[in-house]
Amino acid sequence: MGNAGISFDAESKQFHLYNDRISYVMKVLRDGQLGQLYFGARLPETRDYGYFVDTEHYRPTTAYVFDNEYGFSREHMRQEYPSYGTTDFREGAVEIAQKDGSHITDFRYVSQEISAGKPKLPGLPATYVESDEEAKTLKITLHDEKIGVDLVLSYTIFRDFDAIARNAYFVNHGQEAVDLTRAMSLSLDLPDADYDFMQFSGWWGRERQKVVTKLRPGIQSVGSLRGQSSHVHNPFIALKRPQTDEMQGEAIGFSLVYSGNFLAQAEVDTFDVTRVTMGIHPQEFRWHLAEGESFQTPEAVMVWSDKGLNGMSQNFHKLYRTRLARGVWRDKVRPILINNWEATYFDFDEEKLVKIAKKAKEVGVELFVLDDGWFSTRCGETSGLGDWWPNTDRLPNGIAGLSKRINDLGMKFGLWVELEMVNKDSELYRAHPDWILHTAGRHSSHGRKQYVLDFSRPEVVDYIHDSIYKVLSTANIDYIKWDMNRSITECGSAGWGPEHQGEIFHRYILGVYALYERLTSEFPNILFESCASGGGRFDPGMFYYAPQCWTSDDSDGGERLRIQYGTSYAYPVSFMGSHVSITPNHQVFRETSLKLRGDVAYFGTFGYELDLNKLSDKELEEVKEQIHFMKKYRGLIQQGTYYRLKDPFTGNIAAWMVVSDDKKQAIVGYYKILSHPCTPFTLMKLAGLDEAAEYDVRIDDKKEMGQFTGAELMRAGLVTTDFSAGEQSHEEGKHCTDFWSRLFILNAK
Ligand code: DGJ
Repeated sequence: MGNAGISFDAESKQFHLYNDRISYVMKVLRDGQLGQLYFGARLPETRDYGYFVDTEHYRPTTAYVFDNEYGFSREHMRQEYPSYGTTDFREGAVEIAQKDGSHITDFRYVSQEISAGKPKLPGLPATYVESDEEAKTLKITLHDEKIGVDLVLSYTIFRDFDAIARNAYFVNHGQEAVDLTRAMSLSLDLPDADYDFMQFSGWWGRERQKVVTKLRPGIQSVGSLRGQSSHVHNPFIALKRPQTDEMQGEAIGFSLVYSGNFLAQAEVDTFDVTRVTMGIHPQEFRWHLAEGESFQTPEAVMVWSDKGLNGMSQNFHKLYRTRLARGVWRDKVRPILINNWEATYFDFDEEKLVKIAKKAKEVGVELFVLDDGWFSTRCGETSGLGDWWPNTDRLPNGIAGLSKRINDLGMKFGLWVELEMVNKDSELYRAHPDWILHTAGRHSSHGRKQYVLDFSRPEVVDYIHDSIYKVLSTANIDYIKWDMNRSITECGSAGWGPEHQGEIFHRYILGVYALYERLTSEFPNILFESCASGGGRFDPGMFYYAPQCWTSDDSDGGERLRIQYGTSYAYPVSFMGSHVSITPNHQVFRETSLKLRGDVAYFGTFGYELDLNKLSDKELEEVKEQIHFMKKYRGLIQQGTYYRLKDPFTGNIAAWMVVSDDKKQAIVGYYKILSHPCTPFTLMKLAGLDEAAEYDVRIDDKKEMGQFTGAELMRAGLVTTDFSAGEQSHEEGKHCTDFWSRLFILNAK
């Protein structure tokens, strides 16, 4: 079971957070500010590590803090929550604009509080614990005398995860209002710069592509200013040692539990100190803090691993799957669904939908999801958003009638919504044109002919809540897909005065979270899946409310290999919405086998995004087998330990595997991207197995391959040689050419 502890030594003023595997050490420095000493493998608890910080160095051109001495400069010190301009010239964690025009701050240590467990962050998503033994929390209060502002830095160390969760909280006890212009969730000064910087970047249809670059002097950053965490960059970065790979070596992951504008950066100074900073993007952020008011930053989570990138990811997976996701669906296997979007787009009526559902039921699908186009005048992109009542031309008996027909077939019913948006052609917009985010006197740009509702205003959130509440409470609805299809432009609010306009991006996200919180508590049995034009808001903030997310609109099996592989660095399989869609694929027009599409989609929540009536009998038989397979193995896939084995970003093969907690069962997914003739004999080392156990290995859950011990499979490898041109394959046609896949099912005897 182990232990999580926090010690404070009053004499050295050193804080030490630890569990059985990691330590995080800080101390109060001579200037009263907090210094960072160490984050890494567990250190003995009682030692004084003050010598880890470089406090006494004379260097030409340095500026010094104390009069008449050349020794103490913040520029040469590793700090915990730094600010620019008082001998440190790097980008800091905090900046406060003050009435006298200054932005210099000096936060000095006052006191600390150590408690068992982990407090909630009001209004914000955050990791949690279920009992006080699972974690310890340290809150350090610092104070800036001149402006009377308190800064409380919170750190939680978990017993079962090699993770530290952090946040910062500001309270203005002063006599004057101040403006927070930078309030990061995390700052970490590391003693060297021998790291690779990993980011996960892309665009619609190609989200979270892994990019690795050598850390170099200067700033490397990713971020979003789009009002959503975005397809472009994910609020997750990792630093790994150059020699670290998936199975061994040191890596540190940084993840922000937030869905709006963010910045994640590493600044390497000329002395090879690496400063990692993460939080709300300071551009477009200015929070007015009047006397007596407070501000809470989102949570950031840092994971340290010496077991390679898989070790880092497994910590994030388990922490987020079991202590970030909430509700009845957290620990349940996910229903196999069919979604009508790519089957019909906007062109449907009730009979067409029921026909799709009936066929889906015949092959074993459990949940029918009605996507966009079911409400008010919404028969295309230009109208209806904002008016959340059923279109009775298309659905004569409304959502209640359709859901009943679906339920009568023996299936659950799910519904698409996009609650944050409005079309100009809608009753809502006509009644409340100032309810969109906009800047007075400036043109408002559209995205997909829609505008973003001003969720910074509680009355707007209330209105939307009440209209969707009516739908959800009058029909039997088991699942909601919550979409968000555009970035925010000309951000501003008619509901707030000029001094608050810099708060609107953040207030908007707080409004989204507030609505999610209300609806998930009012409808605790509904399974929520978040979505933002595919994976534009695939972030930990969303997972606090919705335990799964549509990973990408691109459901081509080949493309999905990279998307899901990249996504897995921070997020578990159970979060990844993954469907089999029609071929040629609607996003990249590629033709791949049904088998490949299924073999990739299994490693997610699994479902279909097509009209099964259009498949041949033979294909329908294959679909039946896929559903049978997923029902048999989804517990293992969605809750097992996940390992990346072969990287599609650097090679022609993608491979991953999941292993059950008791190591008795495992599934390996093996995917060849392009076919080459006369390939070599290949062995691929597996991971996470019981070395002493003997595993029976079957290909695609059918063909017996043989019996092998865990030791053989992990040390020598599994034979993965494929049967490309020139050799006989046991599979047919496309299966053995490009985009070819195999699953290996392992069962311990
Ligand atoms: C974008 C989503 O990602 C799609 O799956 C679909 O729901 C459309 N929006 C509907 O407008």
